[in-house]
Amino acid sequence: MSGHPTRVGEHEPPILLFEAVVKRYGNVLALDGVHFHVNRGEVVCLIGPSGSGKSTLLRCANGLEAVDGGRVIFEGIDLVDRRTNLVQVRQRIGMVFQHFELFPHMTALRNVTSGLRTVRRMPRLEADARGLALLQKVGLVAKAGQHPAELSGGQQQRVAIARALAMEPDVMLFDEPTSALDPETIGEVLSVMKRLADEGMTMVVVTHEMDFARRVADWVVVFDRARVLEEGPPARIFEQPVVARTREFLSHLGWHADADDAGDGVARRFAPRERETS
Ligand SMILES: Nc1ncnc2c1ncn2[C@@H]1O[C@H](COP(=O)(O)OP(=O)(O)OP(=O)(O)O)[C@@H](O)[C@H]1O
Ligand SMILES: [Mg+2]
Repeated sequence: MSGHPTRVGEHEPPILLFEAVVKRYGNVLALDGVHFHVNRGEVVCLIGPSGSGKSTLLRCANGLEAVDGGRVIFEGIDLVDRRTNLVQVRQRIGMVFQHFELFPHMTALRNVTSGLRTVRRMPRLEADARGLALLQKVGLVAKAGQHPAELSGGQQQRVAIARALAMEPDVMLFDEPTSALDPETIGEVLSVMKRLADEGMTMVVVTHEMDFARRVADWVVVFDRARVLEEGPPARIFEQPVVARTREFLSHLGWHADADDAGDGVARRFAPRERETS
């Protein structure tokens, strides 16, 4: 491997740039000078121990959280600048949380189309056509008329992804999208995400699914204690982490860079997931 791996989208300005971002909650320093960027078309996975600042960072990325220092630049727009219209900016950023937060009284289709109808004022037929196409994309067109309570966790999360996609965002932010799911439905959500990635969607994914990060990420950023410990292509982070604390974190999760070699030169053996407790 070359010493200077080329990153996806490196030839143009980053879509998201974090510069010396500081965020405090009272006495707690949640982000302590965080610096990294996300290029257009990249899948960037954020990993790291519980409480290290990953969710806070995502909330700062779409202006849900005001920062106490530094800059967050999205498509050249400074989100920290008071004059920035955050409502407008957020329409270009899709967000998928751990808990799906679907509207319980609406069908899957209405959940997907509600933003199009209310924010975009799209005519119903047009919104429904787009909504159905998106449900098709996440493999749920047959469930269009069901309410969230009638869907499995994995299905609800796929509806949430379709809902975020409906607004045609430039970037999708995921905060542990599978960590509230039953093991049997995790795979279906990850495969929808993998497909999105393959289509070139820019994605920032906070995840404890190291196997997903290893296979799908273009770039991995390791958080620890409110800072970026190290960043790099997944092969490097998972196989040759530079920082001892990255190795500790990965091995705590059951990842051992030097375990079985699958025969393709890539060592990857991942024990059953072990959750950090917050
Ligand atoms: N709204 C809040 N009020 C006070 N403290 C907060 C708030 N949100 C986060 N924190 C604190 O900020 C730090 C970073 O939290 P954050 O949720 O970003 O971590 P995380 O890396 O997402 O952890 P996890 O993997 O458990 O989700 C933690 O010490 C947390 O307790
Ligand atoms: Mg979190």
